[in-house]
Amino acid sequence: MAEWNSRIRSAEAAAPGRSSRGVVISDDWPGYSLDLFTYPQHYYGDLDYVLIPHGIIVDRIERLAKDIMQDIGYNDIVVLCVLKGGYKFCADLVEHIKNLSRNSEKFISMKVDFVRLKSYCNDQSLQDTQIIGGEDFAELTGKNVLIVEDIIGTGRTMRALLNNIEKYKPKMVKVASLLLKRTSQPDGYRPDYYGFEIPNLFVVGYALDYNEHFRDLNHICIINNHGKAKYRV
Ligand code: HPA
Ligand code: MG
Repeated sequence: MAEWNSRIRSAEAAAPGRSSRGVVISDDWPGYSLDLFTYPQHYYGDLDYVLIPHGIIVDRIERLAKDIMQDIGYNDIVVLCVLKGGYKFCADLVEHIKNLSRNSEKFISMKVDFVRLKSYCNDQSLQDTQIIGGEDFAELTGKNVLIVEDIIGTGRTMRALLNNIEKYKPKMVKVASLLLKRTSQPDGYRPDYYGFEIPNLFVVGYALDYNEHFRDLNHICIINNHGKAKYRV
């Protein structure tokens, strides 16, 4: 238990007073053996280990929904889901927010919009983020916007998206990312909400892909070299 505590802890414990909090998974966290879980047979041999099992992901999102509701209050929001990787996080987060609001005095109205970005090829970040589809951001003027993203690495993609959106003068913009990667970048972007801070490793599963593969894997896992070679483009 003591060992577990030193490898997975809350960010509040890791850095007291920091505004955003999340689970911190340390660099020496060994993860879970794949043999302990079920996963699609077509990925046998392509993965190293399970970094975050599906059940823990969903439970953590329930708490994020509560934190977001507490901060935003009963204001109507536009959820802007960043595709493709954000779709599962967004679906589960919206579901939890809906349940929380259903069990309280007042229903909040929630619209869900989508924007599609591409910034990775194989396991490498592209120089320029491509916005390859999505909503007309003019609809966001005067609104409370919650951007929902799967993973933030350097933060370059998120900064580019925020710059774009802020031109349309939304009332408020908050960013929720399921994962926050510890990169070597000292001035990395930190979202308002995040589920897990993870080591600087390439992860797949729970809608996160490697060249469009592994989105159908429930757990967040580390891909191995065999998997990378098999699906390289
Ligand atoms: N996995 C999948 N997509 C990503 C990652 C990752 O680790 N980092 C940035 N986009
Ligand atoms: Mg993404």
